[in-house]
Amino acid sequence: MKAIVVTQPGGPEVLQPQEVPQPQPAPHEVLICVFAAGVNRPDVLLRQGKYAGAGDVAGLVPGLEVAGVVEQVGSEVSRWKPGDKVCALLSQGGYAECAVVDARHCLPVPEGWSMAEAASLPETVFTVWHNVFERGRLQPGETLLVHGGSSGIGITAIQLARALGCFVVATAGSDEKCRACEELGATRCINYNSEDFAQELQAEGVDVVLDMVGGDYTAKNLGLLRDDGRLVFINAMKGAKAEFNALDVMRRRLTITGSTLRPRSADFKAALAAAVEKHVWPLLTDRQFKPVIHKEFPLVQAAAAHELLESSQHIGKLVLKV
Ligand SMILES: NC(=O)c1ccc[n+]([C@@H]2O[C@H](COP(=O)([O-])OP(=O)(O)OC[C@H]3O[C@@H](n4cnc5c(N)ncnc54)[C@H](OP(=O)(O)O)[C@@H]3O)[C@@H](O)[C@H]2O)c1
Repeated sequence: MKAIVVTQPGGPEVLQPQEVPQPQPAPHEVLICVFAAGVNRPDVLLRQGKYAGAGDVAGLVPGLEVAGVVEQVGSEVSRWKPGDKVCALLSQGGYAECAVVDARHCLPVPEGWSMAEAASLPETVFTVWHNVFERGRLQPGETLLVHGGSSGIGITAIQLARALGCFVVATAGSDEKCRACEELGATRCINYNSEDFAQELQAEGVDVVLDMVGGDYTAKNLGLLRDDGRLVFINAMKGAKAEFNALDVMRRRLTITGSTLRPRSADFKAALAAAVEKHVWPLLTDRQFKPVIHKEFPLVQAAAAHELLESSQHIGKLVLKV
């Protein structure tokens, strides 16, 4: 089968189409004929050889999410049968004509959603559900601050939080991105290139911050939290180290937490898939949550998709069509 292989750690050009052996499903797995694969920032880190714990990346096929049709099921799989349309969360291997995945990490393609739209869901929806709602414990009526509001993660966090009765404020790097965030449901989006988000939001404060920036944002984020507020890290693009006032954390009973999805156990991801199906999937069929696909690329142009993602000019998700 055709797949996109990381030939060595490096720039987008190291992503090359190659013929590789088709994977075979283990007893607990399904083989999916991939129609579309989502592109995510962690794929870029993997390609660069910077994804913590990924080891030697040469020869790996990236891709954390796909949508397609079940082609074959392992002997222990009862939920799915050949012909079922599914989308799935993977640890790798999505940029390919076929992929194998634990059957418990698949969900049905939501009614009315195209394959490309469904492929844009698993990585961001699973990440946001776990970090904002399970770790961050965001409640209806509370306010969430989302940094990188126009990212794949951002458009997901804004829409899910709004659909579940929460208020959302966001930050993004241009006025156009800010407008897009507000159209998706953010009550306010701050262009961090022209305004200081900490100053702008200080008077009201927020209950939960979803942060992918780190560095000097950390003290500002903590300063914005109301009593019992929660700061949740999903990345630290401006730096993993930060200084903050521990007395402030104690005085206002703040929680600092975070997680990375890819290295979690298969059982954890299965439980998360079940929670997402219960709480998020009904919102998708209701269209309370809409896909935001910036651009689709043919599979063989994965390198161009990475270039665009790294330029940060996109709003929403990039998808590879297989
Ligand atoms: N922990 C997890 O399990 C997990 C899972 C998935 C994703 N993530 C992380 O979540 C983030 C979003 O992922 P994604 O796939 O949605 O990516 P994405 O669409 O590429 O979005 C990344 C966003 O980050 C902003 N950005 C880029 N460089 C930056 C910098 N140096 N400082 C501050 N902001 C910067 C850009 O927005 P502006 O132009 O507005 O700055 C861009 O929209 C990534 O950092 C990714 O690694 C974590």
